[in-house]
Amino acid sequence: MPSDETPPAGNQPAPLSVFSTLARLAGVGVIILLVIAGFLYLGGWFNPHELTPARFVNGFQKVFGIHSGFRRNHAKGICVRGFFESNGNGTRLSKAVVFGVGRVPVIGRFSLGGGNPYASDDPEAIRGFGLLFRLRDGEQWRMAMINRPVFPFHTPRDFYDNLIASKPDPKTHKPDPKKMVAFMASHPEFAQAVKIFQSRPVSSGFDNSTFNGLNAFRFTNAAGVTTPVRWSMVPVDAFKPEGTAQSANLDKNYLFDDFITRIHNAPVQWRLILTVGQSGDRTDDATIPWPADREQVDAGRLTLDAVEAEAPGNCRDVNFDPLVLPVGIAPSDDPLLSARSAIYSKSFTRRAGEKKEPSAITPADVRK
Ligand code: HEM
Repeated sequence: MPSDETPPAGNQPAPLSVFSTLARLAGVGVIILLVIAGFLYLGGWFNPHELTPARFVNGFQKVFGIHSGFRRNHAKGICVRGFFESNGNGTRLSKAVVFGVGRVPVIGRFSLGGGNPYASDDPEAIRGFGLLFRLRDGEQWRMAMINRPVFPFHTPRDFYDNLIASKPDPKTHKPDPKKMVAFMASHPEFAQAVKIFQSRPVSSGFDNSTFNGLNAFRFTNAAGVTTPVRWSMVPVDAFKPEGTAQSANLDKNYLFDDFITRIHNAPVQWRLILTVGQSGDRTDDATIPWPADREQVDAGRLTLDAVEAEAPGNCRDVNFDPLVLPVGIAPSDDPLLSARSAIYSKSFTRRAGEKKEPSAITPADVRK
């Protein structure tokens, strides 16, 4: 009698033929190839001209070199801490928890544009301000602003082409003027932005600079009404123009040193101003200013009362990604936003995995 386990004669499984074994192995091979092709596609290998985040970050490295552990742009900086006190006015535009009356802690970072962490301070250098709000419900609002009223580049490609064109010539150590003139001629919005920059006096320091978010966002309030908004941090300190003594006798870190002295004297404050767009105002192009008569809502006051050199666990290890937004604030249709987010992430991933070199502004400098 055959046992229960023994299949009846004639029902024996057929042994795998050589052909079907090969077919299965080929199937596995195809799957592996498809996965590899997917990674190569995402890395831009099939389109060598596509401006991937990695290629953009390589562009910063080509122009400024690789500075281990530092941001590929806005490399020189210091960390600050403080709080934002909302006055409740912002709730009209957004249901974000941050706009309810009350105080939320913030950390921030002041920086200079460019990928050299040891560059000398320069009145013309773009000043950056990254800010992270820790909301009561555990959400975060992150932003990265600059002291310019418009962004000079319409697309990431324009920014990249200008970056590469501005690479200093090894002989003169300056950008090739011919390349800059050619870029200006083919990018009228850049020429227009430069004109705007040159028409405004530069302020004497970080403390009396206005910082602008520039990209538009979509604010949605509790009633479900959505409004286009751009925001700025407007200093409480009175505007003081860059002094001639300052620019004639530039200390390497004068902007950062002045700010450290200023904050040791008393907390430094800004007002968060929300500019309300109207229909027809461009939300997809940060090179175009909105008309000057747009309504401005004062949403509250930012106070910074502590300064630190970049160190483990403070602003050094934050990615001030402009797409980290609380419920009630959403990105606009500006393509720059998603490009920024992807490129910041690539820069962050590279620097996070590198050995950290000391920052230009040291712990001893901030204790002065
Ligand atoms: C396509 C456009 C842009 C590109 C490719 C770009 C690229 C970068 C990169 C690579 C970083 C370093 C990120 C990190 O390692 O954490 C950075 C930082 C920064 N960017 Fe941009 N950026 C762009 C547009 C803007 C705009 C429109 C603003 C201002 C409105 C801005 C303000 C800043 C600031 C303030 C920082 C320093 C933030 C910090 O302290 O971590 N950027 N940018």
